Amino acid sequence: MTEHVSENLSDHAYWNERYAGSAHGISAGAHGIWSGEPNAVLAREAAGLAPGTVLDLGCGEGGDAIHLARLGWRVTAVDVSDVALARAAEHAERAGVAERIEWQRHDLSETFPTGAYDLVSTAFLHFRDGTLSPRVLRSAAGAVAPGGTLLIEAHGGPPPWQHDLPDDLAFPTPEETVATLQLPPGEWEILRAERHPRSQRHPHTGEMATREDQTVLARRALR
Ligand SMILES: C[S@@+](CC[C@H](N)C(=O)[O-])C[C@H]1O[C@@H](n2cnc3c(N)ncnc32)[C@H](O)[C@@H]1O
Repeated sequence: MTEHVSENLSDHAYWNERYAGSAHGISAGAHGIWSGEPNAVLAREAAGLAPGTVLDLGCGEGGDAIHLARLGWRVTAVDVSDVALARAAEHAERAGVAERIEWQRHDLSETFPTGAYDLVSTAFLHFRDGTLSPRVLRSAAGAVAPGGTLLIEAHGGPPPWQHDLPDDLAFPTPEETVATLQLPPGEWEILRAERHPRSQRHPHTGEMATREDQTVLARRALR
């Protein structure tokens, strides 16, 4: 996830360039720059939940949002890139679930969607410098309705092919991610805070490699 950051591009311009497939050596395939499939952890966790309202933060090309809409969720899906959102909306039209998804453009470092949701999900919402924003993670927790669920899926370490990482880049442990959330004591149950391996395709060579990701799953008390 970590890349050399073009300092003078806004997040909006940076991610639009990436999604347009015109930058950073990553070209868009039939589905775009990602697979079009939902993230495996999101699919696994959603399978155990009754459909309700969900906020997908950093939705990209909509793989998770469309999967959730197909399961009957009413989805609010947010990204900084209007190129990604337009592509996601096209995919949702083709999947026949467009009416179940509202797409919203936010730069989450500046604005955050309103509302309270039965599920708030962030999958690989790493900012351009590779970090997870503590402020955005806390806002995500704050957007979970009583009795609702927070799912944070994130990288737990660099891809094995990346050798030019900045010296000061540290991937938080799942426990550190939980601590970052500053959840009010007694109000939340941590259901998962774990690392796990995941296969990922090298963006340039196409070779598969295993990297470490992390999952934090928490439930807010009813009340
Ligand atoms: C690695 S992609 C993950 C996309 C999707 N969640 C998935 O798993 O396929 C990170 C996403 O976060 C979005 N993003 C990055 N910075 C953002 C910001 N400041 N505000 C909103 N979205 C942002 C990017 O546009 C991108 O779609």
